[in-house]
Amino acid sequence: MGEGVLSAGLARVDGVLACEGVPLDAIAAVAGTPAYVYSGGAIREAYERLSRALAPVRHRVHYSVKANSSLAVLRLLRALGAGVDIVSGGELFRARRAGFEGKDIVFSGVGKTEGELREALAAGILLVNVESESELRLLDRVAGSLGAVAPVALRVNPEVRVDTHHYIRTGERGNKFGIPYEEALATARLALGMAHVRLAGLDMHIGSQLSHLDPYREGVMRLLELHATLKEEGAADLRYCDIGGGLAVTYDTEIPMDAQAFADAVLPLVAASGLQLIVEPGRFLVGNAGVLVARVLYRKRSGGRDYVIIDAGMNDLLRPSHYNAFHLVEAVRPRGGRLTADVVGPVCESGDFVALDRDIERVEEGDLLAIRSAGAYGYVMSSNYNSRPRAAEVMVEGERFAIVTARERYEDLVRLEPDAPAWRSA
Ligand code: LLP
Repeated sequence: MGEGVLSAGLARVDGVLACEGVPLDAIAAVAGTPAYVYSGGAIREAYERLSRALAPVRHRVHYSVKANSSLAVLRLLRALGAGVDIVSGGELFRARRAGFEGKDIVFSGVGKTEGELREALAAGILLVNVESESELRLLDRVAGSLGAVAPVALRVNPEVRVDTHHYIRTGERGNKFGIPYEEALATARLALGMAHVRLAGLDMHIGSQLSHLDPYREGVMRLLELHATLKEEGAADLRYCDIGGGLAVTYDTEIPMDAQAFADAVLPLVAASGLQLIVEPGRFLVGNAGVLVARVLYRKRSGGRDYVIIDAGMNDLLRPSHYNAFHLVEAVRPRGGRLTADVVGPVCESGDFVALDRDIERVEEGDLLAIRSAGAYGYVMSSNYNSRPRAAEVMVEGERFAIVTARERYEDLVRLEPDAPAWRSA
């Protein structure tokens, strides 16, 4: 298979679905279900594919931590030479725990708090991707109070059309993200005049699960227009062109643009500017490297529909319910025969489903199902809704696997709730 391979790390061995050299039922026997299982090899392969494609220019891959913030995943990517893109103090904490240094970190996000800016500056991060004039002014003040100069990239909204779910479009006119294009120059000039800010880059992130090149090309061109003007005006410290993440992966049979096509489209533009390229991929690196393994609890029929009720719910994998997202569902050990069913979770909401009216391999109660392409925006978007403990996370390397996040226990559900809260008077 070519790029965007859905099979990343997963294959059938004697009919049984395995992640690298480990059958998924062997993992379920140890880790229980539901469990997220990641292929270290698949993450490595995706990283190398992207970094090879970008090799002709000076670049840095800053993995977007929000896609999968497991320390095991972060450590793996760090060992490959990646930096990170964070969006919160919590992600900064995780990144540091995984061993990333300040110079490996860029900080995006439309609502950074003063405390988070302070923490980021104290950590000596590479860039704060500033998304509004107010944030810029706050950052200047915070940096001043620390006796520091904050390295800033302005996140500009390049106002291009993108073709993805409207919840994950971020670079169109009127979005909450970035500085409106027509204000970007004025904001950059403001930054240039500030005592505690150094304008070091321009940045965009136009959306997620993007499969066309044109919006990237147009967006980069808009950033470079700004760069040309600012350079003429003496912006000597401008070094970075951060073009965000968004590269799509295969969920079903679609074949998104590959890393090489992406590189061919943007590299010539960036190379001509002399700027150093930064990309912030999340899904591309981990999306297809993960699978959610769940067990069939019950089968039942209702109103002419077949239901397969599994032990993973919308609290474990929110994407189908939240975006109507498609994830392939396969039997770990197919029995032969097929079935058209709604594959649903145990949560008390009709919107708790993994697949509706889907043709799948026949499964019986007790069987294991694999829900594919769950490596990005899976575990990280899980919750304790219905007081369901969060699933375990497992990393596979060749013939070996390890539980890298323990399944939550009931005690974890109540650990922040004292039996006797301290009441205070107003
Ligand atoms: N950089 C910034 C500033 C971002 O906001 C994001 C994602 C990325 C990079 C990485 O995007 P990626 O390469 O993964 O597409 N929960 C949604 C996706 C939300 C993406 C939010 N921002 C989903 O499950 O599809």
